[in-house]
Amino acid sequence: MYLGLDIGTSGVKAVLVSEGGAILATAARELALSHPAPLWSEQDPDSWVDAAIGAVDDLAARHPREVARVRGIGLSGQMHGATLLDENGRPLRPAILWNDGRSQAECAVLEQRCPSLHAMAGNLAMPGFTAPKLLWVARHEPKIFARVAKVLLPKAYVRYRLTGELIEDMSDAAGTLWLDVGLRRWSPLLLHATGLDLHHMPRLVEGREASAMLAPEFTRRWGMAKDVVVAGGAGDNAASAIGLGAIAPAPETAVHAFCHALPGLWHQMGVMLSAAASLAWLAGVMETPAAALLAPLGERVDGPSPIRFLPYLDGERTPHNDAAASGAFVGLRGATGRTQIVQAVLEGVAFAARDNLAALSAASGPVAELDLVGGGSRSPLWAQICADVLGIPVHRIEEGEVGAALGAARLGRLAVTGETPAAVCTRPRRLASFTPRASVAEAYDEAYRRWRALYPALKETP
Ligand code: XUL
Repeated sequence: MYLGLDIGTSGVKAVLVSEGGAILATAARELALSHPAPLWSEQDPDSWVDAAIGAVDDLAARHPREVARVRGIGLSGQMHGATLLDENGRPLRPAILWNDGRSQAECAVLEQRCPSLHAMAGNLAMPGFTAPKLLWVARHEPKIFARVAKVLLPKAYVRYRLTGELIEDMSDAAGTLWLDVGLRRWSPLLLHATGLDLHHMPRLVEGREASAMLAPEFTRRWGMAKDVVVAGGAGDNAASAIGLGAIAPAPETAVHAFCHALPGLWHQMGVMLSAAASLAWLAGVMETPAAALLAPLGERVDGPSPIRFLPYLDGERTPHNDAAASGAFVGLRGATGRTQIVQAVLEGVAFAARDNLAALSAASGPVAELDLVGGGSRSPLWAQICADVLGIPVHRIEEGEVGAALGAARLGRLAVTGETPAAVCTRPRRLASFTPRASVAEAYDEAYRRWRALYPALKETP
């Protein structure tokens, strides 16, 4: 048996996976998020640990015999979050998360201090990444910065609390801007640009390596054997790719992007900051569950909504790299109804995904089709809109909602058994495929063209 734990932003998911790779059970615990100032996004690191322990407690209560037979655990987590520990291993302040936009000014400072940053770290400096957040702390909270003994990412903090070891995997480390992504090791030069050195960093391992053993406190708590291995694990995007079976070598250009969770592999990604979160936001504002908002629209629409929505509720990374970008509805009229607004949100996210696909295609060639994972993958309507807007087939896959946790469990298995990745990281079964419809292609191309013009036009508008 294997356990996958995904430390997300809205919650922690745990999956229990059989020796043969089937998901036997899942559990989830919610997490709170705080926005103490505009552009800020923070979380209490101990809440991740409590939620992770609670989710495994739930599994152990429901499946005590299976949980007792767990041999390997894999961790996946929201990337980039700056978790600052003092010399006693306690958090110095709330973690500054991946969708926090406060450090735009510090990005410029980093790029100026370290002109080779892009070549080495594989990425432009963006406020979402960890390094600019530390520079922000150094400038605005110098007393805290002076006490920083270690900087961890969210899942590494959970690992620390579950095993007592300070360890990070390559795929998550690649999101700090302190990793030499080509060489897969911390860069003293990049660290120095943030006022840090190697002592502030945890030890690095590959995602499929055994990183540490689960502490006796937890093996006892969950009735497990004494030798439960915790694998290196992965940032949630790389973990989702492992869950999807996306492990084929990428083109050479991918070296200048993120490390994958398997040795000798790299991956590229475009990142939107509010995709499914845009629908969750609308559901919150309308005080109506997302499923109830979607229901009147059925499983397909006849063409674009007259309303346009920019999904930049937390700023945007790809393609704009603009933490100050904001969301917008355009085209509202007295007659505008709720379904048109809901549809506009789904389409705005799909249009932004088209921007991401264009950026990825420009870097490494066309993308022929895609699999959906995560909460948004539940909706057939959204999948059809994505296919129509992106112009390529889109698939809903089995267990797509727990893709990152499944990927983590697979890494846990690889760490225990030493099998080949191809034997373990198989492609999940496709539940349904959605193909672009010729009848709406032109209308969506035109709607996308108009939508694209909105961000530059609104950029200067507060
Ligand atoms: C990736 C990123 C997000 C988080 C979400 O760069 O910031 O996908 O990992 O959990």
